[in-house]
Amino acid sequence: MQSILYASENYAELDLYFAEKKVKKILLVCDNSIRFLRLNEYFESLENRSGIKVVRFSDFEPNPNYESVVRGVELFHKESCEMIAVVGGGSAIDVAKCIKLYSNMDSSENYLKQEIVPNDIVLFAVPTTAGTGSEATRYAVIYYNGEKQSVTSDSCIPGTVLFDASVLKTLPIYQKKATMMDAFCHAIESFWSVNSTDESKQYSKEAIQLILANMDDYLSNDENANAKMLKAANIAGKAINITQTTAGHAMCYKLTSLYGIAHGHAAALCDKVLFPYMIANTDKCIDKRGEQYLKESFNEIAAAMGCPTAEKADEKLAHIVDSLELESPKAKDANDIDVLKTSVNPDRLKNNPVKLSDDVIEKLYLTIIT
Ligand SMILES: [Fe+2]
Repeated sequence: MQSILYASENYAELDLYFAEKKVKKILLVCDNSIRFLRLNEYFESLENRSGIKVVRFSDFEPNPNYESVVRGVELFHKESCEMIAVVGGGSAIDVAKCIKLYSNMDSSENYLKQEIVPNDIVLFAVPTTAGTGSEATRYAVIYYNGEKQSVTSDSCIPGTVLFDASVLKTLPIYQKKATMMDAFCHAIESFWSVNSTDESKQYSKEAIQLILANMDDYLSNDENANAKMLKAANIAGKAINITQTTAGHAMCYKLTSLYGIAHGHAAALCDKVLFPYMIANTDKCIDKRGEQYLKESFNEIAAAMGCPTAEKADEKLAHIVDSLELESPKAKDANDIDVLKTSVNPDRLKNNPVKLSDDVIEKLYLTIIT
């Protein structure tokens, strides 16, 4: 069970946490954006105040490469670090997760080819966006020779997470909107996923309600709402940790690479067209629990969104995406639609409760880009 700490003004809870861990040296995985955060000063002064040495590792890129993780594992061993802390967004957290998983593997062989043997190295995370929920999931994504690799292990879920609302203060507004919608899409996709459980649905419901209740204040940078959004993203992460994401996420990746829009922006555009299509096509249900169960799930999503019907809920989602000015990209080329269509991994569609034919996927993409 993951423990949650809430940041105070002077991070006294962190002092206590590190004292309890009885460590002398920490590997701190962070990107350069840490210099804008007050947490940076905390880690800079940690050795003077408590004798705990901090070894920083920032030699990785967004969508991190395998080689970067290898450098992190080497540094972890060379410096004899005793635990790993990560301050960052999804990429930094993915790097930290992989460093932990690979730290007890044979360094003379490719880590991706070895079996993961869980280890008890402490992993502590401070998410700097309220969106990916990566700090709550067993998944990490890295790239090997340009190919996306999904690394999955329960043992890479950070044992403790710090919610520090101040990290969201300096986040550009577009990033705030996009990451919030990423969390929202995690919550609704998990809700309708064929893998949903009572537990995952409870997480989804809670995340949806928290996001909607705090959206406006979060976008105005209210400290309390920022903290609530960190919590919502974490809970939505717990939901997809059980169910994985569905067609909206399967379709959104190419929109990001083709048009340069943020991941959460792309996911929101996909779910905006997917949701009404699925409500109108429950007869194509592939969830083993049946069409009626799926209709009830849509009604439960609507209730969580404060709407009387599923149709009203999909209208509300569209309204939110539009009011956030998360606009649709315009096709640059006649080939765009073919590039998009062929990008969707059919395996990932299996979590989606409504069967989507190639023609339907093409139609949905056309609705997005034209
Ligand atoms: Fe996502």
